Amino acid sequence: MQKIINSQVLVTGGAGFIGSNLCETLLAQGNEVVCLDNFATGKKENIVHLLDNKHFRLIEGDICSSEDCKKAVQQIDYVLHQAALGSVPRSIKNPMATNEVNVGGFVNILHASAEAKVKRFVYASSSSVYGDYPHLPKIEHLTGNLLSPYAVSKYANELYAQVFSTLYPIQCIGLRYFNVYGKNQHPEGEYSAVIPRFIRQLIRNESPVMFGNGEQSRDFTYIEDVIQANQLAALASSEKAVNQVYNVAYSGRTSLNELYKLLVELLANFDEKITRIVPTYAATRAGDVKHSFASIEKARELLGYQPTHSIAQGLKNTIDWYWQVLK
Ligand SMILES: NC(=O)c1ccc[n+]([C@@H]2O[C@H](COP(=O)([O-])OP(=O)(O)OC[C@H]3O[C@@H](n4cnc5c(N)ncnc54)[C@H](O)[C@@H]3O)[C@@H](O)[C@H]2O)c1
Repeated sequence: MQKIINSQVLVTGGAGFIGSNLCETLLAQGNEVVCLDNFATGKKENIVHLLDNKHFRLIEGDICSSEDCKKAVQQIDYVLHQAALGSVPRSIKNPMATNEVNVGGFVNILHASAEAKVKRFVYASSSSVYGDYPHLPKIEHLTGNLLSPYAVSKYANELYAQVFSTLYPIQCIGLRYFNVYGKNQHPEGEYSAVIPRFIRQLIRNESPVMFGNGEQSRDFTYIEDVIQANQLAALASSEKAVNQVYNVAYSGRTSLNELYKLLVELLANFDEKITRIVPTYAATRAGDVKHSFASIEKARELLGYQPTHSIAQGLKNTIDWYWQVLK
């Protein structure tokens, strides 16, 4: 697999879940890494072990500030743009904040990157752009009606990237992540994702809340596969591969009930009592899609993407990490 080496890489949102994992891998591969983050949702503890590394530079700043963006893109080869306000429910509660950061901030960093003539701008899009499109698996060019302000913001990113690539000397690749999980994902708070939330509640012997009947399905994607996709997107050299969007997933279907069972099985190795916990079912949440399952043929063909972690493999690593951190 192609890896980014000997380069200057900007990771926006580098103190967040995905960003901090990217920073760590890129440093281990011998790059100079700049992290731009305002700690809106990111955590110092995700990057504290990187702060003494002389190849790592933290810029505590905001993608909504042109000044901060200009500073961050100086001498940069590749931008891996992760900074955003995640979560569908958050965007329904406060659509203005989601728009300001995810759209306004996106245009800011994209513009600064174009001006600085970076080699490639890779950005995090989302499976939410498929909205209510009913057919599975999801294929990049077939999308439905969007279901949340968050989805609108991610779709706007794709439109801006496309327009910028025709107007400015910049090459962009959008990665539509599908339910990413792994170490450093924040397990607390009302906007936490389902895997860290379930793990936290089970470890604390609480009953996890399942929205809906648990039969909704997701294509859970392990963090290492997301890191792989970012590197391939940054380095892809064929003309056909650039200025495109790609699904980034494992390409598997797991219902929330199946996920729950898997988590209980794995966690029972640490604490047998967990097998006796039963989930609490609650009303479906507004804006949630029913099923999410990706075709990854496009990324396979044009980027050489090959996911390596099934849900069972990825969860095992993830649980080992959470058990140490939360116990
Ligand atoms: N985790 C997933 O399953 C998933 C799925 C689809 C898309 N995504 C996208 O991937 C990206 C990373 O997600 P994540 O799960 O790591 O989320 P995260 O919340 O852990 O990370 C986002 C980071 O962006 C930073 N940030 C937010 N606003 C900022 C601003 N104005 N200026 C600078 N930094 C700012 C936060 O402090 C945080 O460190 C996001 O764009 C998200 O929308 C994630």
